[in-house]
Amino acid sequence: MNQIIKKIRMLEKKNNQKDMTKINNTKAETSRQMVVLNVYRANTHRNDLPRVEKFQIPVQRWMTVLDALLFAKSYLDSSIAIRYSCRMASCGSCGMKINGVPKLACYTKISELQGNTITCEPLSNFPHIRDLVTDFSQFFEHHKEMAPFIHNNNADIKDENKLSEFKQTPQDVDNYLQFSYCIKCGLCYSACPTVATDTKFPGPQALSQAYRYYADTRDDLSNRRLNAVDGKHGIWRCHFAGSCSKVCPKGVDPALGIQLLRGHIMGYSRNENKIAKLRDPT
Ligand code: SF4
Ligand code: FES
Repeated sequence: MNQIIKKIRMLEKKNNQKDMTKINNTKAETSRQMVVLNVYRANTHRNDLPRVEKFQIPVQRWMTVLDALLFAKSYLDSSIAIRYSCRMASCGSCGMKINGVPKLACYTKISELQGNTITCEPLSNFPHIRDLVTDFSQFFEHHKEMAPFIHNNNADIKDENKLSEFKQTPQDVDNYLQFSYCIKCGLCYSACPTVATDTKFPGPQALSQAYRYYADTRDDLSNRRLNAVDGKHGIWRCHFAGSCSKVCPKGVDPALGIQLLRGHIMGYSRNENKIAKLRDPT
């Protein structure tokens, strides 16, 4: 009985400590009523000299960096250029460097950042257009090179009566599901040290998408994808720095996709034996 009472007291103590931490966090949150937003400003087409402009932003609970930027744009300077759409980490358009780290502005709460100053800069490794907006053309070119769609010669889509069914087991789906969560936000591309030195390198997003379709049992374009990645600017340029996976907001883990695809190219794979056999019946 004494033991039980002891346990209950310990649990009560733990709960009280948790409550105190919550109260302290809320106090810290409400005590930070203003933040300084440093915004990188420059217009490439006018050859502007880059500068940083400061904006005082009143903080509200749960405010995101995108909310703060939109406050600055609505009430302080309407000329700030930002790209955004969904505000819910789905469209992938609000990527930028926040305090030096590639992040989605709509998915980064002010409360999770340290200090009273927040610095927003355009993503690295992308050509700059204006303020926080960068050019994604090359990024999407690399994505397209990987044939990011399912192709199957046996899909009789011309004749509806002969439509084929391509069944997959839950295990088949597991092989690529995680990689299909990519929203093409470019954060991994911006964080990649290899992309920074070789713009012909497809980058972690394109390579992990090549694996996503390669690992799909419904697809038969694997040779085309392997040819696209197995070159001197291709998959072997990855140094496995892992910075791509660290910044990915959707848990895709592009570095893992790259390693699994490398495993297939080299003819071995630990957990993908079944697919390896299907791809290479010899
Ligand atoms: S892999 Fe992650 S970080 Fe890279 S583009 Fe896709 S969602 Fe963004
Ligand atoms: S606005 Fe769509 S991901 Fe941020």
